[in-house]
Amino acid sequence: MIEEEFGVPIPGEILPEERWARTAIKRLPPPGPLDWAGIFGRVAPVVLELGCGNGRFTLQSALARPEFDHFASDILPVVIRYATRRANQRGLHNVRFAVKDAQTLMGAYVGASSIAEVHLYHPQPYHDHRQAHLRLVTPRFLADVHRALAPGGLFVIQTDNPDYWAYMTRLVPVFFDFAEHPKPWPDAPEGRSRREILARSRGLKIFRGQGTRRDDLSTAGAIRRAESLPPPTFRSRGPWCDLDAWESRDNGPPTRR
Ligand SMILES: C[S@@+](CC[C@H](N)C(=O)[O-])C[C@H]1O[C@@H](n2cnc3c(N)ncnc32)[C@H](O)[C@@H]1O
Repeated sequence: MIEEEFGVPIPGEILPEERWARTAIKRLPPPGPLDWAGIFGRVAPVVLELGCGNGRFTLQSALARPEFDHFASDILPVVIRYATRRANQRGLHNVRFAVKDAQTLMGAYVGASSIAEVHLYHPQPYHDHRQAHLRLVTPRFLADVHRALAPGGLFVIQTDNPDYWAYMTRLVPVFFDFAEHPKPWPDAPEGRSRREILARSRGLKIFRGQGTRRDDLSTAGAIRRAESLPPPTFRSRGPWCDLDAWESRDNGPPTRR
């Protein structure tokens, strides 16, 4: 059976039950660097997806790159349930999903230089500026991503919100050798994530970019730089906000855990 969302197939296929995997981490250990080899039962480069929603990117990447392990999290239990079920049914032993706030995950659970790639697709822009403190991309968050990445590690980020993108493109190059990537990613011409597919179906422009960790910046230097950079207090108005309102009615209000 081929599953689809908005007319685009969900990567992979449902395997017979005896080949299913167990990809849910129901409860993380107390704060401290996660033991990736213990979690996955092998030593392999780790790809982290933050705010993964229903996990489309992680499913596709894990299927295409079995030699990488994938850890993805979101604060909403319902989307992690969808993601986990699909990864289980596809027998993806190189995937784990957990319900966790991305700031806490990066700040308290991910060890220094332990990650090969960090992916962040369409972080919630919280277009009401009174909720600006909930925005994930802050100077400190970027310093935490810099710390988590191994030398040469990759950070990928995208949004359909031009105001958030203006903020991101001002800050991200401080920490990463960053380049914009205007065209769809070649591995997913119709969109890497649910939100990308949905936004494109509404005619919204997608802003994408990626960069490797700046190795001329130490962890302490990155934290010092972060302290001098502005918080994400931008105001945002436009058709992309209507889509956010529609989506949050779909998913319910976010809560941190
Ligand atoms: C616009 S959706 C994008 C989902 C997915 N990345 C995509 O592109 O389809 C934003 C997602 O971020 C999650 N989220 C919001 N704040 C978060 C946080 N602090 N930590 C982790 N996930 C968060 C939401 O629950 C939601 O699933």
